[in-house]
Amino acid sequence: MKREIIETADGSSTIYLPELNEHYHSKHGAIQEAQHVFIKMGLLEVISRKNPSEISILEIGFGTGLNALVTWQQILNKNISLKYTGVEAYPILKEEVASLNFPEELSDINAGSFFKKLHAGSWEETHKLSENFTLTKQKKFFHEIDDKLKYDLIYFDAFGARVQPDLWTVDIFKKMYDSLIPGGILVTYAAKGSVRRAMLEVGFLVERLPGPPGKREMLRATKK
Ligand SMILES: C[S@@+](CC[C@H](N)C(=O)[O-])C[C@H]1O[C@@H](n2cnc3c(N)ncnc32)[C@H](O)[C@@H]1O
Repeated sequence: MKREIIETADGSSTIYLPELNEHYHSKHGAIQEAQHVFIKMGLLEVISRKNPSEISILEIGFGTGLNALVTWQQILNKNISLKYTGVEAYPILKEEVASLNFPEELSDINAGSFFKKLHAGSWEETHKLSENFTLTKQKKFFHEIDDKLKYDLIYFDAFGARVQPDLWTVDIFKKMYDSLIPGGILVTYAAKGSVRRAMLEVGFLVERLPGPPGKREMLRATKK
């Protein structure tokens, strides 16, 4: 499928799929969205609820690696060992990685080299990318995920239900529920009633939270 790199409203880039008329991130700001939905409402919430020394994250749709990059930046000076698993069926190309401006926009002198490392490492193997950040990229489809009681936090960042309704179903959320430890959290930018009901059906406690700029609400689900 054709992929185009475009700029979002906060100056950070994203990928656009013209055939589906779908973006990888919010057009109102890719970095802003990642910081709000996944860091503020997800990672920082896990830290404030449990003050853990280790956090295990599953990302649904590794894509450009933006969420992994902002996660690394957030725990840089924290005494937390982070294990990050990114599942992705359609990895982006080297040339696309080189055209994304996240490191420049994050203005962290080490962001560029870390962003390259996120993409350079082989798939299906675990790589220690920094003192406290370990990455495992798995090239597979979301419906193949079969982990049990493994993650503290899930970044659920699939394409929207308009283009991939099969990814926002009871079947997929049951897999997500099973893969979390009790008390584990799933965050997503989506806020649709049907998505919330599917989460409730598999047993999650679901909160509607304020969304990132340009979006009224988002969802956070906690495993009971
Ligand atoms: C909304 S994008 C977000 C990507 C990523 N979180 C980021 O920040 O760039 C969704 C991602 O899911 C991937 N994807 C779509 N359908 C998939 C499937 N059935 N199984 C695995 N990956 C899929 C896409 O290739 C894309 O990278």
